[in-house]
Amino acid sequence: MKQKLVNIIRRFGLLPLAEQAAYLRAVWLARKDNENFLATNKSFAPPPLWLLYESSGHASYRAYDYSGKQIAAVLHGMIRAHAGPGTKTLLEWGCGPARILRQMEMLDQKLTLFGADYNAQSVSWLRQTFPNIHVRQNNLQPPLPFEDGFFDVVYCLSVFTHLSAEMHKVWIDDIERVLKPGGIFIGSFHGEDCIAHLLDHELRRFEEGELVVRANVKEGSRLFCAFHPSPYLKDKLLARFYVLQVMPNPTQGMAQTLWVAGKK
Ligand SMILES: C[S@@+](CC[C@H](N)C(=O)[O-])C[C@H]1O[C@@H](n2cnc3c(N)ncnc32)[C@H](O)[C@@H]1O
Repeated sequence: MKQKLVNIIRRFGLLPLAEQAAYLRAVWLARKDNENFLATNKSFAPPPLWLLYESSGHASYRAYDYSGKQIAAVLHGMIRAHAGPGTKTLLEWGCGPARILRQMEMLDQKLTLFGADYNAQSVSWLRQTFPNIHVRQNNLQPPLPFEDGFFDVVYCLSVFTHLSAEMHKVWIDDIERVLKPGGIFIGSFHGEDCIAHLLDHELRRFEEGELVVRANVKEGSRLFCAFHPSPYLKDKLLARFYVLQVMPNPTQGMAQTLWVAGKK
């Protein structure tokens, strides 16, 4: 029912307006806990609330901090399991307000951390706040501003989930380009666990192994959604990689699937 209502609002182009109202509500609901969180975590640099909401759909510093720690630990475990011991250069593409990158910095001082995002406000806040993370802005379309074969690891959380079919093709090519041979890609996708959210016509397409895209809002924003059946990921998007691990629901409350793949 909720998805049908959202679909109608989307069709009339009213989603950004509804989103503004939802943002104000989220800030209001989180305000007391945010005050408490800042009072007990004095060294915590709070992300601007709109950036936090735009990247996560809530305005809670506590949830940002907790979920960032959880997912960074999972990603770090995957990097240790699949990337070589000499792993040094790591890029988070679509890093948003550094929910994960700032935790990666605490977890592993041996890594040289890079972040990229197309949102100029995120990039500017990151540069001011985390001087040890090298942050670059890219466009909606590739290329990333890095040389071929620069990275040991590239990961992205909830980025392909907000892009069109055409962008999937060009971005996986560019990620492959900036990875070293044998380098590791980790991406999160809306997989089989999300089918309960699909409308009937979307579900039919998903079950045929086709990418499902909900558009009619700015591409790359949280409201632009893509859903990824496993055959699409394995046989199309990641066909030139070798798949190393597939992990549905990597952390509590994260209804996405992580795919780890190596560059041939
Ligand atoms: C849902 S947020 C996730 C942010 C972060 N990865 C996290 O998990 O907290 C999606 C992020 O991808 C960024 N994004 C979307 N399309 C992009 C593109 N083509 N290039 C770079 N960043 C992009 C958005 O600006 C946003 O920061």
